[in-house]
Amino acid sequence: MPQTFEQYIEQNKKIIDEELRRYCQSLRIPNRLKEAMLYSLEAGGKRLRPILLMAGFEAYGKEKSNVLSTAVALEMIHTYSLIHDDLPAMDNDDFRRGKPTNHRVFDEATAILAGDALLTYSFEIIADDPLLTQDQKVEVIKLLSQASGPKGMVAGQMLDMEAENNEISLAELEEIHAQKTGELFAFAITAGAYLGGATPGQLEHLREFAHCLGLIFQVQDDILDVIGDEDKIGKPLGSDVTNDKNTYPKLLSLDGAQNKKQVYKEKANTALEKAGAETSLLMELTDYFSNRDH
Ligand code: IPE
Ligand code: IPE
Ligand code: MG
Ligand code: MG
Ligand code: MG
Repeated sequence: MPQTFEQYIEQNKKIIDEELRRYCQSLRIPNRLKEAMLYSLEAGGKRLRPILLMAGFEAYGKEKSNVLSTAVALEMIHTYSLIHDDLPAMDNDDFRRGKPTNHRVFDEATAILAGDALLTYSFEIIADDPLLTQDQKVEVIKLLSQASGPKGMVAGQMLDMEAENNEISLAELEEIHAQKTGELFAFAITAGAYLGGATPGQLEHLREFAHCLGLIFQVQDDILDVIGDEDKIGKPLGSDVTNDKNTYPKLLSLDGAQNKKQVYKEKANTALEKAGAETSLLMELTDYFSNRDH
């Protein structure tokens, strides 16, 4: 097993990229729709969620071939969420992953449909995977729809929109991020661990771990929007201020946000110890997430 999470990303990113392309290319669909789907899929995301899914699997299981379809499905849902997040009606962003946003290159209607297509195709991909048992398919599809749907990411996006231009408390901010970002991270790690054979008790601790990781990710996301390097993060700084977003730096100042990250790191590591996976790659994650520069 490679030593650092960065090496692990390096090693697995290519597999995910190839699988995403293969699944998309095999579709016999209107050309423009396929182009729009591929444009955002291939715009160069970090592939954190599918790679976390693989890492969650490897913490408990061995042969990782049966996690690939779920990994691809998860990245498709994440990519759909970003295409819609950037739309004029939502964050109205012109750049994503260093390139013009989907609706800027195509048009709004096509961007909406490309997002719809990625969301729905992801469930077909899991349902069609011959390497998963029927029980595994039903469980994974249920968990993924919960994490991405009205009780998960979509709820977080709604709360995030409603909180624009309003003062909210730190507890409310944490709740928004737990749903908007944390749920998909929690799915990644717990679905991977589930397929790898983790026990229900271990899964519960992993869920707590992943939620803290989601918060670490988001504090850092907010910090990078203030003091990041535009070339590295692939979009202009200051989008949160422009949209009057509630962020950690806004609520706590930059120093306060950095301190909060440490608190989340401690909580994450305590949960991970309880999950019995402390010798795995997952241990590297809190540092990786808290130090990332893009
Ligand atoms: C960005 O996620 C959206 C948030 C949840 C804050 P990532 O930073 O993982 O985006 P990509 O996939 O690497 O572009
Ligand atoms: C996007 O959150 C999260 C989802 C799409 C669920 P943000 O709006 O904070 O992400 P960025 O800053 O555009 O990447
Ligand atoms: Mg947003
Ligand atoms: Mg946004
Ligand atoms: Mg952000």
